[in-house]
Amino acid sequence: MKNVYIETYGCQMNANDSGIVAKVLTDKGFILVGEANDADVVLLNTCSIRDNAEQRVKNRIAELNFLKRKKKNLLVGVLGCMAERLKDDLLTNFDVDIVVGPDSYRRIADALNDVSLSQEHNLLTALNAWETYNDINPLQMDTNGVTAFVSIMRGCENFCSYCVVPYTRGRERSRDCDSIVAECRELFANGYREITLLGQNVNSYLYQDGQTKTDFADLMVKVAQISPLLRLRFATSHPKDISDKLIKTIASYNNICKMVHLPLQSGSNDVLRRMNRKYTREDYLEKIKRIRQTIKDCSISTDIIVGFCGETQQDFEDTLGVMEAVGYDYAFMFNYSERPNTLAAKKYEDDITLQEKNRRLTQVINLQRELSMASNRRDIGKVYEVLVEGESKRSADKFFGRNSQNKVVVFDRGDISKGDYVNVRITDCTSATLIGKCDVG
Ligand code: 5AD
Ligand code: SF4
Repeated sequence: MKNVYIETYGCQMNANDSGIVAKVLTDKGFILVGEANDADVVLLNTCSIRDNAEQRVKNRIAELNFLKRKKKNLLVGVLGCMAERLKDDLLTNFDVDIVVGPDSYRRIADALNDVSLSQEHNLLTALNAWETYNDINPLQMDTNGVTAFVSIMRGCENFCSYCVVPYTRGRERSRDCDSIVAECRELFANGYREITLLGQNVNSYLYQDGQTKTDFADLMVKVAQISPLLRLRFATSHPKDISDKLIKTIASYNNICKMVHLPLQSGSNDVLRRMNRKYTREDYLEKIKRIRQTIKDCSISTDIIVGFCGETQQDFEDTLGVMEAVGYDYAFMFNYSERPNTLAAKKYEDDITLQEKNRRLTQVINLQRELSMASNRRDIGKVYEVLVEGESKRSADKFFGRNSQNKVVVFDRGDISKGDYVNVRITDCTSATLIGKCDVG
């Protein structure tokens, strides 16, 4: 029987897909192993979002080709977004044995059993409009046993001009809500205490069964009702689609976490228009106002791209302005990376130099560090309910977990275990972590 090692790059959705692949393969008798050296098959589940993500995978393929010289029968497979984008180029120019796109994972075991057949046989990259892996409960990969991820939809049809995802993951489709709730119930029964519902744009989740329609807010309620001990998060929202109904739902359930990840991308209306984001900075700030008015003590995080085509100094300062106005608790920040065949690549020139992108990126990172620090300082003296995830990496006599706002909290080890909820009084902080003591009283 074949030993398989799966390595994941990119987003949490991809990690979840690796879990689907792991489930499909182990059901067919393959055995999962923890490193490439022990494997007969190495699968790289890849990401195409920025050029550097692809470069990392190409370097890894080169390393594995080297390993193949020692292990003659080793098979290397590329899955995920790069498989979908580069297709047969991977088979012909990178010495990869099998290429499987995001909608073909059900066929992976059969394909692996017969790689000596034709090249077409080893190239499974058709996309479709229906595959949701409904009936496959993925293995939770690299799990701490407390926090889990559940995919509720696939694909994306927003066509932000910079983004490769609509091309690599295909049409948007929502998974059957009953199968989502069943998977969440099972995770809870197996000891998991926090679930993050995943989709490229969860706000447009819509499942129709006969006359009954379930939207994202309805789905959240169904999952929240499994148990008050099960916490819920979700990612990612599109600012144009986040509804008042959802905001009210977050506010009204204790176990729906008080956090919203709302990617801004840019604070300039000109840039937002070229990005095809379909909202203005004013629309965005209005949504933030609604969130703040309705959800008490809600954390807000974002994604920012600097150096998009034609971004002027003024456009860039508009982004800094929105960051300050919102006071984000956390942000993921990136240099714009042109992706082949996207709308932006076809229509606009990638005209900001790397040096200038880097200068702008450093500036947003520094601003965000100050904003995170200010946000964390405001928490000193407060008491938060923390779900314990494990021992702190830095010191074995401390535990760590997260509060509802998704902030990491490190605190003294008491008579508690992983998966418990504890009240922690915040006494200190860094820009990345809250530090506290268990509040017994
Ligand atoms: N270049 C840089 N960042 C990008 N993102 C998506 N596409 C690109 C790109 N071409 C960022 C966006 C998105 C996050 C997942 O990655 O900020 O929200
Ligand atoms: Fe995830 Fe996007 Fe990367 Fe694909 S390209 S793995 S969807 S982040």
